[in-house]
Amino acid sequence: MKVLIVGGKGQLGRGLAATAPADAEIVCHDIDTLDITDKAAVESVVADVKPGLVLNAAAYTAVDKSETDEDAAFAVNATAVGILADAARGAGARFVHVSTDFVFDGASGSPYKPDAPTNPLGVYGRTKLAGEKLAGPDALIVRTAWVYAPTGGNFVRTMLRLMGEKPEVRVVADQIGTPTYAPGLARALWMLAKQGLTGIHHFTDAGAASWYDFAVAIQEEGLAAGLLHKAVPVIPITTAEFPTPAPRPSYSVLDKQSTFAALGQPAPHWRANLRLMIEEIRANG
Ligand SMILES: NC(=O)c1ccc[n+]([C@@H]2O[C@H](COP(=O)([O-])OP(=O)(O)OC[C@H]3O[C@@H](n4cnc5c(N)ncnc54)[C@H](OP(=O)(O)O)[C@@H]3O)[C@@H](O)[C@H]2O)c1
Repeated sequence: MKVLIVGGKGQLGRGLAATAPADAEIVCHDIDTLDITDKAAVESVVADVKPGLVLNAAAYTAVDKSETDEDAAFAVNATAVGILADAARGAGARFVHVSTDFVFDGASGSPYKPDAPTNPLGVYGRTKLAGEKLAGPDALIVRTAWVYAPTGGNFVRTMLRLMGEKPEVRVVADQIGTPTYAPGLARALWMLAKQGLTGIHHFTDAGAASWYDFAVAIQEEGLAAGLLHKAVPVIPITTAEFPTPAPRPSYSVLDKQSTFAALGQPAPHWRANLRLMIEEIRANG
């Protein structure tokens, strides 16, 4: 089957290409070859490729910047999702879209189920929620969280760099979520798409952590793999001590039970996937 992947150079896009099933003939685009906000360009590529499946890994992911760049964030995270969904539907293709834990406000003390009430705190979450609606009821929408990969801008790579440069690092300890390894998410998307699932589903790695817990684990794994040579103090701080333009949910653990049942297995614990990624960075120099 022909599969069109947009956002192909992002963390998830690369993961999707790397984990594509043998029978998938993939065509990858990113903004340099297909701007998904350009309706005519999307329609032309879809008409040309004739995909059976369209995977949207493209997004405006600069959470803080989106607070002052709402129109651009909305264009990519919402309007363009409708453009892609319409084009896929017109071609008779299934459409898979990815959303975020930031559609929730964090007030819950227990994991959010897919049908839990949404209440995004910032522009990024609001634009992603609008995108979910524009994807339409026939799309597969998978919400995920705290995505990282060996390439791209992410918390793991930032921490490894800071821990090699700074005498100490200060990390927020009062925001709880779940780190998610992009290639694992990609594999799950391929499997869920194959089942023809529609509607909203949740997928992250298993377990939960604060950013502080995540940073401590990154240092431990980095030292064990020889990527870091000296331990530096990791200092837990509060969100109030590290204000950001975009407010973030203090708790955004997603309930994945139904997704794990559909996949026939749970995702690995986030710590196991972190070790895998650190090992991959070490192996590739
Ligand atoms: N990263 C996270 O922690 C996280 C958490 C929850 C959910 N998600 C969701 O997971 C999905 C994948 O995220 P990711 O981390 O893989 O994001 P990413 O690494 O930022 O990749 C997104 C890709 O989309 C491209 N893009 C941006 N605007 C575009 C446009 N107009 N047309 C075509 N491509 C465009 C980006 O190009 P440029 O780099 O040139 O802009 C980038 O290559 C997204 O839906 C995101 O909202 C991510």
